Amino acid sequence: MAEYSLSPTGEKFQLPEQKNYLEEFERLKMLVNSQRALGREIVVVMGVGFVGAVMAAVVADAHDGKGNPTKFVIGMQRPSTRSFWKIPLINRGLSPISTEDPEVALMIERCVNKKKTLTATFTYDALKLADVVIVDVQCDYLKESLGNVRSGQAEMKALEESFEIIAQNISPQTLVLIETTVAPGTTEQIAYPIIKKMFRKRSIESDPVLAHSYERVMPGKNYVSSIRDFWRVCSGVNEEATRRVVKLLSEVLNTEKFPLTVLDKPIESETAKIVENSYRATILAFLDEWSLFAERNGVDLIKVINAIKVRPTHSNIIFPGPGIGGYCLPKDGGLGVWAYRHIHGFEDEIFKITPLAIDINDTRALHVAQLTRDALRNMGRPIASAEILALGASYREDVGDTRYSGSELIVRRLTEMGAELRVHDPYVLHWWEFEKQDEYPASSHSLKRFFRGQEKFKDLRIEQDLKKALDGVDALIFAVRHRPYLNLDPDEVVQSAGGPIAVIDCFGILNDDKIKRYFELGCEVKGLGRGHVKRIKDQVRDRREQMLLDIPLPIAKEK
Ligand SMILES: NC(=O)c1ccc[n+]([C@@H]2O[C@H](COP(=O)([O-])OP(=O)(O)OC[C@H]3O[C@@H](n4cnc5c(N)ncnc54)[C@H](O)[C@@H]3O)[C@@H](O)[C@H]2O)c1
Repeated sequence: MAEYSLSPTGEKFQLPEQKNYLEEFERLKMLVNSQRALGREIVVVMGVGFVGAVMAAVVADAHDGKGNPTKFVIGMQRPSTRSFWKIPLINRGLSPISTEDPEVALMIERCVNKKKTLTATFTYDALKLADVVIVDVQCDYLKESLGNVRSGQAEMKALEESFEIIAQNISPQTLVLIETTVAPGTTEQIAYPIIKKMFRKRSIESDPVLAHSYERVMPGKNYVSSIRDFWRVCSGVNEEATRRVVKLLSEVLNTEKFPLTVLDKPIESETAKIVENSYRATILAFLDEWSLFAERNGVDLIKVINAIKVRPTHSNIIFPGPGIGGYCLPKDGGLGVWAYRHIHGFEDEIFKITPLAIDINDTRALHVAQLTRDALRNMGRPIASAEILALGASYREDVGDTRYSGSELIVRRLTEMGAELRVHDPYVLHWWEFEKQDEYPASSHSLKRFFRGQEKFKDLRIEQDLKKALDGVDALIFAVRHRPYLNLDPDEVVQSAGGPIAVIDCFGILNDDKIKRYFELGCEVKGLGRGHVKRIKDQVRDRREQMLLDIPLPIAKEK
């Protein structure tokens, strides 16, 4: 029976059959022959996901001083039911990624249809034609329990398989550039021996030309720039590999403005990526305890952070919101901790801060459920059967990326507590983590496994009409700082809801005037790190009592 791959817009693509492989390789050989005749290098990008699809386009868009393209790129994707659809989409000149950066779609369209420097394929035979292979497949980290990264493990299978397939197919002089975020040590201690062994089987004497350079992709408005116009770190397993990787990156990235940092060994480049993201995860996690301190002692952490930020040495202090999602920060430190034992063979526990930071970030969102419960309780409403609207499904503002978002945990925990959840997000059409929760992000990865009562979520649909979403809610959670949420008017919100509601601010979205207005309208307000709301509530209550008694307010109090 024919198998199909479904695109996010619901288009069905039949997976290739055996007979298709031969004709596909013929198509590629013809393309490559004509491209070589134009003096272009052939680059195969393995894995056209969030990183690979855009990196492939950046390379395909590269040109020499005269504006002539210097590379022909083949984006190569395994033909799985989950991912195959990306290939026909790219070959139509369409981006497989939905993003706020218009440059992504324009660049893919330009390279496929106008410059004809980009194509996509499902056959590993493409590797036989490559001068360069860029590896952008995933390397996941599977957590065994919520809030305990140490009990998890790196999932090396996809990556190890990729190295093996590459080694079976490439010519000896092909540069293999690993861009995947890997457990430090992977390039030299896992990839190198796999490729070397396969080379020996193929009677190839030479060493693999292997290098590592990591991506610093920021999904969002500057997607393309975060790849092309940004600093890169790289390193090769030997002099030749280092020379080749420096040459390649200098030809495709804006290295004049953003010079490369070349490190001595790939493990240093791999470690740089893990430290970079662990540092970020740690400075965010560190504010969790101060956020609780603030809530319990009448402090507005948002104002505290803004006060500190003006000091140039502390300008990167940021409020953590309801946990730290995205694909990278929740896992990258785990890859480092795992590598220490499972690649390098150490038994002692040297890592204290990195795993603790990830564990704190992974569970911070659960506190939002407590705040919601308490706010509703203050209004005399039980959480069970309460209608709750979460504003925002993605992991950060103004992007449509929902991977490991704090919102997912909020929705799952509140549902477990008996609430009825609705979700609105202007950037997300389908929340696959719920709609396909048995298989997405992978059968064993769904956060569903840490909560009870999650079955009904297959029917969860993202609301696009905010007014409709608000109708009849008991509680509203500002979960993401999406632009459309920043200026919502309390009067209109309460009117749409049909009466006073509980309002939970997870991201410092509400200013004091808005908080005050919600209280005046009979709402209850709580927020992560926002202990001062109690003060505003008391002021509103005092004022109301004064007005009821019709006594002029004392001057001191008016101030
Ligand atoms: N997404 C980000 O924001 C980001 C930022 C920086 C670094 N990274 C790192 O980049 C790497 C890739 O991340 P991503 O977000 O693009 O992941 P992704 O899951 O979107 O893409 C990986 C792709 O590789 C494909 N693939 C897997 N095995 C394959 C094989 N054997 N042959 C061909 N294709 C194969 C998958 O089907 C998938 O399409 C990860 O290591 C990630 O940590 C990601």
